[in-house]
Formats: sequence, C-alpha cells, structure tokens
Amino acid sequence: MKCRSTGVDIPRIITYGQQPLGNGFLDRPDIEDEYFFEMAVGVNSDIALLQLEVQPNPEQMFHDNYAFYSRTSNFMVNHFNETADEIIEILEEDFPKDNDKFVVEIGSNDGVMLEHIVKKGIDCLGVEPSENVAKISNQYGIETISEFFSTELSHKILESYKNANVVYAANVFCHIPEINDLAEACSNLLKDNGYLIFEDPYLGDVIEKVSYDQIYDEHVYLFSCNSIKSIFAKYGLKLVKCKHLSTHGGSMRYYLKKNMDSDESTSLIKQLSHEDHLGMLSIEAYQKFAERCEVTKIGFKDRLIKAKEDNKRVIGYGATSKSTTILNYCDVGPELIEFITDTTPTKIGKFTPGKHVPVKSYDYFEPHPDLAVLFAWNHKKEILAKESNYMGEWMTHLYEEYV
Ligand code: SAH
Ligand code: TYD
Repeated sequence: MKCRSTGVDIPRIITYGQQPLGNGFLDRPDIEDEYFFEMAVGVNSDIALLQLEVQPNPEQMFHDNYAFYSRTSNFMVNHFNETADEIIEILEEDFPKDNDKFVVEIGSNDGVMLEHIVKKGIDCLGVEPSENVAKISNQYGIETISEFFSTELSHKILESYKNANVVYAANVFCHIPEINDLAEACSNLLKDNGYLIFEDPYLGDVIEKVSYDQIYDEHVYLFSCNSIKSIFAKYGLKLVKCKHLSTHGGSMRYYLKKNMDSDESTSLIKQLSHEDHLGMLSIEAYQKFAERCEVTKIGFKDRLIKAKEDNKRVIGYGATSKSTTILNYCDVGPELIEFITDTTPTKIGKFTPGKHVPVKSYDYFEPHPDLAVLFAWNHKKEILAKESNYMGEWMTHLYEEYV
C-alpha cells in the first residue's frame, strides 16, 4: 500500500482477517448479507503512522443511526467539561482583545464539549455527519452542520461564518482517510496564530499495551507526535505541544498553531525523542507488535475455552466497537461468551457485528457471572468503582495478562 500522507510504499505488518463494521450492531443474528472486509494494517515507520490498508466507505459507518454517543461515560462527560475550560483559557490568554471569538468542533457528536462553550456565550459550530447524534447537540443550542468535514466544506463554512480561533476534535481525525485534505481544511478555517487542538488514541500506548482493539474500520490511523508534526507542517500548522491523556486507554492531545515560527514545548521535544527511543521510527517495533497480537489472540481464546470446560459462566462487559476486532480476530462468539451487557439503549437487544453475541441491558449483570470479559477496559477505573461488590474474575485481551 501507499502511505496516505506521503505517498511512499509501506509494508503490511499484520492482518486481522475478515472484519465487519465495528459499530455495526445487528437487529437479528441470522443476517445473511452482513458486510465484511479484510482488515490489514500497514505502517510508515519513517513518521510512525499506522494505517488501515482499506477503510469501508465512511457513509456506511457514520449515518443517522450511529451507535456511539459520547455522553455514555460519566468520565468522558467530565473530560470534555475540563477540555472546554482549557479551550476557554487559551481563548482568553492568546486572544484577549478579540471580540469575535469562534470555536469549531469536528465530530462534535452529541455536543458534550461544545455545550460548555455555548454556555459561556462564545460563538461556536459543530460539524457532525451522524444525524442522530447531531440532533441531540441541537437540543443544547449548538449549531451543527451535519456533513463530513473536508477542504470543500471548510470553504463553505467560511462563506457563512468566519475564521476560527480554535478548531477542536476528539477521536475523529483518526477516522478521516484523506488526511492531507483534512490538514488543509483545518488550516483554511483557522485565523493566523489560531490553534488546532485534537486528541486521538495514541500509537505509543497501543504498541506498549498491545491494545490492538483500537484498530477497527473507523480508525484508519493511529497517530504519534512524529506523524502529526510531519503531516500538518505541510499546511502551515506547527505542532507546538502535546499532552498524554488516559482517555480511550491512552490518547495524545496535539496542539498545533497556525504559525510555523512558533516554538516546540520542552515536553513535545522529549516526546518526539521518546518515540524514537521506543523504536517507533523503525519497522522492527511493529513486527514485534504483530507477533504479540498473535500471542494474545491464542491466550485469550484458550482462557475462554478453559472457563467453559470448567463450567464457568462468562459474560462480556461493554459492547465496544473495539470488542468487534477482538471477537472476530480471536474467533470468539456466543459459544464462549453468553452475552455482553451494555448501558447504551440503542445497542441493547442487538447482536455484535460478525460474531453475533447478544447485547443485553446492564440489569443482566446480575446474577453475577464467574468471569467477566472487560471489553470496555478503557473505562476500567469507572467500572471497577461501580462494581465493587462483584466477586467474580475480570479478564481482558491485553498482553500483560498473557506473558
Ligand atoms: N468527539 C466525540 C465523538 C467521537 S466518535 C468523542 O470523542 O466522544 C467520532 C465522531 O466523528 C462520530 O460522531 C462521527 O459521526 C464523526 N465523524 C466521522 N467522520 C467525520 C468527518 N469526516 N467529519 C466530521 N465528523 C466526522
Ligand atoms: P467506548 O470504549 O467509549 O467506545 P468504543 O465503542 O469506541 O470502543 O465504549 C464504551 C461502551 O461500554 C459503550 O457501549 C457503553 C459501555 N459502558 C457500559 O456498559 N458500562 C459502563 O459503565 C461504561 C463506562 C461503558
């Protein structure tokens, strides 16, 4: 395959086999024409950019029935409240005399972050193609364009609105295949010295924890500081700072400024060379990652088979899109996991993509099983606190449990 950013030929490091849509929960288990694609992964190790070889058509994934609602985790609700505070602080510090401040969020979902910007009386705009979630954000008074963000759309936005002081995005840039077009679109939208701030699951964490479940149809990329520095500099956006976050099992927030003369922060300089020390700029690190995925695949399924042989009751906790990759890659279905409990109303009563494990409401967590597979492992702290009276075992697919 060719790197979507630089156009050079890059090698395949692993294939996770035939995979369905990560969020493609089904109404019936006996569906015959379910969509599958081969989920193979390539890497451009010159800039530490992991990418899917092919990504399903975005319209297939983001539509008026999109399953992911940002407000389902209290921890994330709090995270976006804090994010809004940080954006407001940046606006006050960097643009004290600007009376026409404007914030645009890409992939604003149900408005969980912009809600706080609106409340402060700051002009803002959401861009969110999935109409069901965009409608919720409207209820919070957030003006939202229900389209896919692109350079073309950035021109349209500028015809009706104005240049932004801050463009923010969470867990969406890794979804957008046309990365060069995206970088150009962000640069267009921003005022001079404006900030592009975005966060996505971090490649460094995925390599370290072997959290390969971050790879699914929607996540066409896993980024690093080195890749972001390289991709966005071509469009006049300088990576100036980064902040590691605990969200989504380890994310990185990138701060870029529309001013190529800006300085890099000390923490960014450290992180860039840390990535080099970790081997993220050489192919061997990714080959090792691929080998470790295979180790955990075998270990995970063996543990479930053993539990079944021991007559243990096993259920899943959290029907995440990430779990779609695990179940299909490890070839695990309802024969090994009775059902998965989830709190999202639109997932309850459905069946997981590909492997068709039933999804049941949270009420079904009782009577407690002997073994619970924590698919929402990224919310471990929140969930373990909530389930302090659960006396059974927890397990995940993560590498540390199989070495
Ligand atoms: N920012 C939220 C939602 C992340 S899910 C959060 O972190 O919780 C990704 C969101 O991006 C979905 O709501 C999806 O509909 C939207 N999205 C996908 N492709 C997009 C694109 N090209 N432009 C704007 N939004 C997009
Ligand atoms: P999440 O890990 O945020 O996303 P993704 O789908 O991107 O992998 O999804 C968490 C899922 O777990 C979501 O469907 C809601 C569910 N969940 C629970 O069932 N109980 C909980 O206490 C929490 C925090 C999440």
